[in-house]
Amino acid sequence: MTSIALSSAAPTGLKVDAVIVGAAPADDGLALLPGTESLDKAMKKKLAEVLVQLGATGKADEVVKFPTLGAAKAPVVAVVGTGPLGEAGDPQRREALRRAAGAAVRALAGSESVAVALPIEDAEDAGAVTEGILLGAYSFDQYKSAQGAPAVRAATVVGPGVKAKNVKEAVARAELVGAAVNRARDWVNTPPRDLTPQAFAEAATKLVKGTKLNIDVLDEKALAKGGYGGIIGVGQGSANPPRLIRVAYRPARATKHVTLVGKGITFDSGGLSLKPAEGMAEMKSDMGGAAAVIAAVHALAELGPKVAVTAYAAMAENMPSGSAQRPSDVITVYGGTTVEVLNTDAEGRLVLADALARAAEDEPDLIVDVATLTGAAIVALGKRVAGIMANDDDIRTKVHDAARRAGEQMWPLPLPADLREKLDSPVADIANIGDRNGGALQAGLFLNEFVDPGTGWAHLDIAGPAFTDKPHGYTPKGGTGVAVRTLVQIVEDVAADRL
Ligand code: BES
Ligand code: MN
Ligand code: ZN
Repeated sequence: MTSIALSSAAPTGLKVDAVIVGAAPADDGLALLPGTESLDKAMKKKLAEVLVQLGATGKADEVVKFPTLGAAKAPVVAVVGTGPLGEAGDPQRREALRRAAGAAVRALAGSESVAVALPIEDAEDAGAVTEGILLGAYSFDQYKSAQGAPAVRAATVVGPGVKAKNVKEAVARAELVGAAVNRARDWVNTPPRDLTPQAFAEAATKLVKGTKLNIDVLDEKALAKGGYGGIIGVGQGSANPPRLIRVAYRPARATKHVTLVGKGITFDSGGLSLKPAEGMAEMKSDMGGAAAVIAAVHALAELGPKVAVTAYAAMAENMPSGSAQRPSDVITVYGGTTVEVLNTDAEGRLVLADALARAAEDEPDLIVDVATLTGAAIVALGKRVAGIMANDDDIRTKVHDAARRAGEQMWPLPLPADLREKLDSPVADIANIGDRNGGALQAGLFLNEFVDPGTGWAHLDIAGPAFTDKPHGYTPKGGTGVAVRTLVQIVEDVAADRL
């Protein structure tokens, strides 16, 4: 990962390949942001004029590069638009900074080292800039025989107060969180022939080795013996057998317990209810929820909040074959509920039913599941926004607020009780599909059946934002690592008695 250094020197004096500064839109064209002073001075106060001549407006994701011609030690300057920047302390400001840092670093791929002189007013701003750099510099080139422009390798975060202790702490947190998001992205981007349920379990085992975390992996035999009919049913058509992974973080003197549950379909072909070829390749991202919960619990163990955290990753590959489950099969999930599988492509809820029912046995205070669950969530909210459902209005509101402060776009969706009857089955306790209307909500209501009504529960449908075809801000093409930052924030909020 990109290395991060801090400097309170003027950016023009730093020996780097490129300097990044910021501009914001203003009534009279464009406003230079703090961090631009030394460069502007060296350019005889002509920086704003040059930018206007180059067509810059200061809008978000806009990057203008030009040679410094001696005005700075770095040969190149990149001026990035932040869009309107709010006040210090406003999550929207932090997200604007995160996005600007990421967009600039992405545009500078091929430069070894950069100095980022964006306006940093407090420790949180510095953390956001750091996250933006680390996330924007991400690249996945393990499978390329020849590399393209290599990502930025070293970045210096520049600002007058960055040597303060609280800034260093915020930057250290950002480095842990950034690494966790990038780890989740790596898992999502890994082709499904290599990231099988077993391979993912091995990667999780390797990750937690030598940490405070404990891991348990149930293989296909243990799953069958334990009555995990959902994970077995979904995985039985594949040559790559399923797994249930449980990772536990148990700090001393924890008074609260949060359980994270992730959907881990390493490839979702739809099974016998086969998906059309168009868009099927994106279904390597159907384990994005599992990647997020494992990456988050690992980051949390390093951050050290006094909250117990358990992460479950329900892993299976959904494939059609002679041994695959059939539409009309009835399976018995963990805990004994019978499910009529009317559509094998509604498989995420089946593996989650097992994991949620198992999670209830640990008696947590709060359960948050994360799943690339429904195309309907994309229809409702688009490709960039995740849906939040919950069995409690206060929890949904607080999870939404945690996402906002973490800089992730999520939006509340309801769980209307009257939709539940669409899942009635004539032969089993419940069917795995209803009808087309409100598909994301019906999926949420299905999951709700496996949650103890006395336990707080939130469900994040990340089908849209888990994967992107189009790079934007600090998000390169491919797996995005969505939900990692929100999950970390949720647990920190529980530790702070805020949730
Ligand atoms: N993994 C998909 C949902 C999905 C679709 C995620 C597109 C990301 C992008 C899920 O398993 C699925 O196939 N859901 C079905 C449910 C339907 C059969 C009730 C869907 O949304 O079409
Ligand atoms: Mn599916
Ligand atoms: Zn799926």
